[in-house]
Amino acid sequence: MNLERAHREQYLPVEELASYTHSTITADRFTSRRFLDEEWESLWPRVWLMGGRASELEKAGDYICKDIGRDSVLLVRGRDDTIRAFFNVCQHRGSQLQFAGNGQMRSIKCP
Ligand code: FES
Repeated sequence: MNLERAHREQYLPVEELASYTHSTITADRFTSRRFLDEEWESLWPRVWLMGGRASELEKAGDYICKDIGRDSVLLVRGRDDTIRAFFNVCQHRGSQLQFAGNGQMRSIKCP
């Protein structure tokens, strides 16, 4: 792959991307705090991430609450049958709206 194109598509500095694509993956990639922080800074917020399966949100009001990286995310099937994702935080003073797991709700309310 052309590195300039890869840079545009991946949003990583070309020099950094080159070092990742032409080297052996070492064990520290899986244990390094610095590498994890770089991934959450430069990679994971810019790509699609799986929060669950649509089959887990069968009926209106079904939800999945999941921590993804540093964020808690709420996936909900609405009455219009659309699945939406929200940051799991109240816009008033930042209370967490739901705790991890799946469930059923009538509406999204601050506790
Ligand atoms: S934090 Fe005040 S209403 Fe949610």
